[in-house]
Formats: sequence, C-alpha cells, structure tokens
Amino acid sequence: MCGIVGYVGTQDAAPIVLHGLRQLEYRGYDSAGLAVIDRAGQVQVRREAGKLINLEQAIAAEPVYGAIGVGHTRWATHGPPSRRNAHPHSSPDGELVVVQNGIVENFMELRRMLQAEGYVFQSDTDTEVIVHLIHHHLHNGSAGDLEVAVREALAELQGPSAIVVLSRRHPDRLITARLGNAGGVTVGYGDGEMYIASDIPAILRHTRRLAFLESRQMAVVTADGVRFTDLKGEPIWKEVVAIDWNPMAAEKGEYRHFMQKEIFEQGRSLTDTLRSRLDFAESVVTLPSLGLTPQQVRELTKVTIVACGTSYYAGLVGKYYLERLARIPVEVDYASEFRYRQPIVESTHLVLAITQSGETVDTLATLEEARAHGAYTAAIVNAIGSQAARVTDGHIYMQAGPEIGVASSKAFTASITDLYLLGLYLGQERGVLDVELRTALIRELSSLPGLAGELLEEAWRSGRYRQLAERFYTYHNFLYLGRGINYPIAREGALKLKEISYIHAEGYPAGEMKHGPIALIDASMPTVVVAPHDSVYDKMLSQVEQVKARNGVVLAVAHADDPVMAQKADFVLPVPRTSELLAPILAVIPLQIFAYEMAVRRGADVDQPRNLAKSVTVEKGGRDKETGRQGDRETRRQGDRETKRGASRSYGL
Ligand code: F6R
Repeated sequence: MCGIVGYVGTQDAAPIVLHGLRQLEYRGYDSAGLAVIDRAGQVQVRREAGKLINLEQAIAAEPVYGAIGVGHTRWATHGPPSRRNAHPHSSPDGELVVVQNGIVENFMELRRMLQAEGYVFQSDTDTEVIVHLIHHHLHNGSAGDLEVAVREALAELQGPSAIVVLSRRHPDRLITARLGNAGGVTVGYGDGEMYIASDIPAILRHTRRLAFLESRQMAVVTADGVRFTDLKGEPIWKEVVAIDWNPMAAEKGEYRHFMQKEIFEQGRSLTDTLRSRLDFAESVVTLPSLGLTPQQVRELTKVTIVACGTSYYAGLVGKYYLERLARIPVEVDYASEFRYRQPIVESTHLVLAITQSGETVDTLATLEEARAHGAYTAAIVNAIGSQAARVTDGHIYMQAGPEIGVASSKAFTASITDLYLLGLYLGQERGVLDVELRTALIRELSSLPGLAGELLEEAWRSGRYRQLAERFYTYHNFLYLGRGINYPIAREGALKLKEISYIHAEGYPAGEMKHGPIALIDASMPTVVVAPHDSVYDKMLSQVEQVKARNGVVLAVAHADDPVMAQKADFVLPVPRTSELLAPILAVIPLQIFAYEMAVRRGADVDQPRNLAKSVTVEKGGRDKETGRQGDRETRRQGDRETKRGASRSYGL
C-alpha cells in the first residue's frame, strides 16, 4: 500500500524520510523512492524497485544531503513494479517532483492531452500525468505561481489522490493536497521542522502534534509552520490534535474507534485492492498468486465459495459476479455446513474460501476436505501469511490492511472487490468478456474508490448518521431488506447492527417479506431497505409501500437524487450512482456507519464487542488447535486480546 513521508527543517531529510517509510513497510509495497533538494538547490531523486533496503543502498552509494525531502513506497496500479515506475516522478526539466497515493481515473485522456503538448512520458504511471500537468499549468496560465498551478492541475484530476509536490524554485516548502479518500494526509508539527505523512506511525517518533487534511484541502508546509487552504485558495483553520503516546491509540489518529477509522479508510483500501491487478492500457486483469493455469481456468466446471459470517455474505455477492462475468456456476455455503454434508467435489471445481483472518477453523477444515477430493483450492484472505494463504493452491490477498475492530468493514468491501476482479479475470481467461466490455468494466471499477470517498465525505460532514442514531438507538428490532445482488448487503447490514450495538436485526430477501416477516411490521420495528436504482428497484419501492401501509418506519439506502424514494421513505441513507454490479460495495457503507453510530450512542464497546473475537480458531464446543483450550466464539472473550495480537502479528504490526 502506498506510503508518503515528507520533511522540511534543519536536519538531513533523507534519514528521516527513510525511517518514516520503514514504519509503513508492513503495509506492503513493491518499490520506493525519495527526492531531496540538495545544498546546491538541485532536486535529487533516488528510486529503486523492491524493498526499502535497495533504496537505502542506492542512497548509501550516492548520498543526498538536504533539509527538505519527500519519500514514497509504491504499490503498483499503473505499470509494473520497477525503478522507472517508482515515485517520485519528475517534470521534464527536473524542476518539480510529485509523489501520489490514489488513482487518476482520467489519466488516459490527460496523458494524451499532455503528449499532444509535447510531454514525453518516462513511466507507465498515472502519477507522471500529475507532475506534467502541474508543470503545464505553471508555464501556461498560473503566472508562475506554483500553488495556483497545483490547484489548476487538481481541478482536472478525476478520482481520489493524495499528493506532495516539491519544487526546485521553492526549496523551502512542500505542497500537499488531498482529493477524495485515497489515503490520509497528516501534517506533523515540530520545533523549526515539519512533517507530512500518509499514515501517523511514519512520523510518531518526531511529533505527536498533528493536523489532518480533508478532501479538497491543501497545505503549504515550511520549516516554520503550515498554511492550509481549500482548493480555491481560501485560507482554512485546522485544529492541531495531540496524539496519545500509546502507538495503538496513536494509530487511531483523529478517529474515536478503530472501526470508525476502518470504515472511513475505505476509499483507500479499495484503491489498494485494485492496485497492481489492473492493466489499464491493455484492459487486462492479472491475479498471478491465484496460480490457476489458463487450461485449468478453461476447464473449471464449478466454483464453490465457502466462508463464515461477514465473509459468507461477501461470497453471496461473489456468486453474482462469477456467474455474470465468467458464466461459471457458483455455489456458496457456510464453511461450518459444507464440511459436514458430504458435498460433491471434483477435480474441475475451484473451492474458494473467503476469510479475513485466514485462521477460521471451519473454513480451514473445508479447504482440507476440498483438497482431499482433488479440487483446486484458493482463498481470498486479508492476513498475510495466514494459514488459509499457506494451505491453498492459490490466493488473492485482500489488501485491506490491518483491521483491528472486531466487526469487519473495510475487509468486507475489499473481499467483494476481489471477487469482482476474480469474475473479470475468469471471464477474460475463458473468453467470455471481450476487450471492449472489459475496458468499460475496468473503467467503471476504477471509479469505485472515488465514489466511496464521496459517500464517506458526505457522511462525515453531514452528521446524518449521528442524528439517525439519536432517533433510533432505543429500538429493539430492525428488519433489513434487499433484493438481487443487494440481498447479501441487507444481511451484512443486519449483522453489523447485531454485532456492535446488540440490537436484534434480521436481514431478509425482500421478496420473502410477504411470506412471513411482514407480520412483524409495526411502528416499533423499523425497516432498512437497500434500494439503489437497479433492475429490482420497482419491487423495492413496492416493499417500502407495504411497510408504510402498516405504520412501519423506513430507512432507505438510495440515491440522493431519487425523488420517489425521498418522498416514500422516512429517511434516506444516500449512495452515489454506479453500475448494478458495483452497487453493493457502496451500499454497505451507510449500513456500517449506521451500525457504528448506533453502537456509540448506546455506549457499547465498538472495537471489542462482547462475546466476539477477531479470528475464530475453535469450533463451537471444540478445542483450540494451538492452545488445546476448550472454547467457542463466546468463551474466547478474554482471549480476544491474544487472538487480536495474533491477527496483528500476521500484518507485522
Ligand atoms: C463480522 C465478522 C465475522 C467474520 C467471521 C469469519 O464482522 O467479521 O462474521 O467474517 O467470523 O471470519 P474470517 O473472515 O476471518 O474467516
């Protein structure tokens, strides 16, 4: 996952930047680079593919000395990991360098436009577009004002980005900006020195006084301080937050709970999920760690998805993706059921586990069973190096990053996105998706992090969910309804509410309501409907009417610009418009925030809900494989810390 560290002050920048990048290593990256303005006023750039040690050796061989610099660890999106694709990227005259976290969705158009202006590209990256664009504006129209040029360039970028710009002409300052939600930008205050970081741990050694950029904000950082503006150049005031000395608490930064942080990080985790899997130029999806040969892909006759809890709901969405995009029959089962029902498994089947922790006992046992029957096994897994990744023939890492809150949020959306990528990949390899269709689908997919960012910003700004929690926190029962591809989202929304706020909630396929649950509807049982504009929208509308006819209260996950739903439902939880297939990834986010705010309002322990652990390494009533302790999901409560430490360890925290 990309990381950014910047320094301006009186000390040598390179060691400080490298130390910061080291703190972010555990998030994963494939290349690294650094730029420093040296004592002669020249911008010196060092970049290397692979581990940070390679960059450190390059710097040791050819040192750079200067008191202002910026570094970056890259996780490839556009173009393979290599020195030429590593950040920072430079303008043609070496005047400017830029590092970036995020995705420039319209980079093809911008690249073509800049090429027509005479810019020659040295890399495959979208970031190089940004540096040339700033350079272009600097020399055409901004009257040579770098801040104006940065703003003009940002106005042309589509998609989420966090950037830092360094200029030879302004050797006293770093300019940083954030567009959308591809990752944070933190400004750290020292004494006569200042820091910038994508993630707090990178600069914790130097400062605990931090300010956080929000979307569409910019900062000009010098050794003596920082000036914040919006993207029109209007000054803005920012609170400086004092961060706890405890590294875990510090990691939470501006958020009250890890779960809140993880929910609001989803613009970034989705960006990271897409990284390195999409070749935008060729419209190709690559999943090398899956390990299936082209022949095996062609010969697949069935995919069986096995998982538990939230991961199972991700699997239900995955069924739609694989069937729709790759035309392979898919069965989804709870791992705890599959292993006991003598399932039919054949060598042309792919048995695919979805597991955040990679340690869930039922899921692991299922994989063992499937292997014994000769199936190809694979896992979509978040915890790097976990058992699920080790015991399977192939895997896809979620790239959601560490999830500390016990109730899953960003790992859920990451796993669904991985299933979408898998659907595209299998469709492409089986010749079901032609290049034209793939191009359109990949383009749509790349807009997802930006849309999630928009949704999250609106949620943060509006205070909508706190108000909803105030209105509903005393209720005892909720019904969640969804249909088609959003039915699993209704179930996941209900699970989130149950897990962290301890309110009873049922997730149901909307079409089943009339076969029983409708009897429950009255004014004391609110109904949450997941109703984006899709092929079953009219049917969802009629469910809303049926609930209203029985004095029910309706909360609708719907588009903000849907006047019909706005009129029929009591409350709208807005989601941006996207394609039907991608809609569930956005639709679940309001339900996560709603559950979170309800739990906070009820005073519940959001990050460590009662009776739950992050990874369930024992079967109910069974024995823990490692400790031999008798236990189940409930009796592991006091063991939560151990399992959480175990889970953290596997991310290298
Ligand atoms: C709920 C949640 C759980 C897990 C389930 C399986 O928020 O996270 O329902 O999905 O316990 O765990 P993994 O995905 O680690 O196999």
